[in-house]
Amino acid sequence: MPHEFVHKPVLLAEVLAALKPGTGGRYADGTVGGAGHAAVILGASSPTGWLSGCDRDGVAVEAAQARLAEFAGRFEIRRGNFSELSEWVPAESCDGVLLDLGVSSPQLDLAERGFSFQQDGPLDMRMDKRQMLSATEMVNGESAEELARIFWTYGGEQDSRRMARAIVHDREGRRFTTTRQLAELIERISPRHGKKSHPATKVFQALRIAVNDEIGSLERGLVGALKILKPGGRLAVITFHSLEDRVVKEFGRARSRDYTFAGGVDVPELREPRTPELKWVSRKAMTPGAAELAGNPRSRSAQLRVMEKI
Ligand SMILES: C[S@@+](CC[C@H](N)C(=O)[O-])C[C@H]1O[C@@H](n2cnc3c(N)ncnc32)[C@H](O)[C@@H]1O
Repeated sequence: MPHEFVHKPVLLAEVLAALKPGTGGRYADGTVGGAGHAAVILGASSPTGWLSGCDRDGVAVEAAQARLAEFAGRFEIRRGNFSELSEWVPAESCDGVLLDLGVSSPQLDLAERGFSFQQDGPLDMRMDKRQMLSATEMVNGESAEELARIFWTYGGEQDSRRMARAIVHDREGRRFTTTRQLAELIERISPRHGKKSHPATKVFQALRIAVNDEIGSLERGLVGALKILKPGGRLAVITFHSLEDRVVKEFGRARSRDYTFAGGVDVPELREPRTPELKWVSRKAMTPGAAELAGNPRSRSAQLRVMEKI
């Protein structure tokens, strides 16, 4: 139900300071979610500011439409991947673009979405329910080698091979269909022993990233975001883990340089001159302050980086 969609927007003051929404400005929000950030951007750009928003999650799109009703006529929200924003938002039209990555609180909290190892639900993890591939297909269908690669690459799971082999062994007897089943297998292999985080944290994160092709979407989304920004427009990206943050940092670093490598290594003679496309507004990541952390523990891993198109 749209009215039950509760998600606290993170680093809100910092996003506003970065994008500086003002009257008549045009903005894009690629992860509109419950429209917490979007509502504040539209409010600050009243009475004529415009927002193009999207989300892969149909429930989020409905919630955002309802939340933004007071700004009717000043926004368009579509269901889709932010990697496709530049296919419908005109080139060089935006003063600011926001990507607030990862999952929303309702996605995590609703057992039926299958993201959580703390509650039992179907092993799903699709942000977009129209997608065919879910965590069930992946866990029951991929080879042990591929599962281990996913757990290691996207989760940094040290026991990736052992866990992958155990999954392949167990699924011969019974398919994995629930989050509980998978979490129990991981607990068996890697018991808690007073560890701070649950032993299934990394595998669940890795599967989520793989099922939703989060890294590929981000790489394409950053390129598209740069296309739709006006010169002088700003791109604000909030990440929640180091893999995402690395992609953002590398994108900013590569596109703010006045040269590119002709070879794989940085040898001055192999540098080819080019025009930088953006500059950093804050190269150092901004993180939530004590007050935000106290009010919203889920903000703890959030990092905001901001770039400006040249
Ligand atoms: C952290 S929440 C955003 C919350 C939002 N800023 C707010 O204030 O309510 C992340 C949202 O991004 C969506 N999402 C993640 N990856 C996406 C992608 N590649 N394309 C579109 N939406 C995506 C998720 O479905 C989720 O609703």
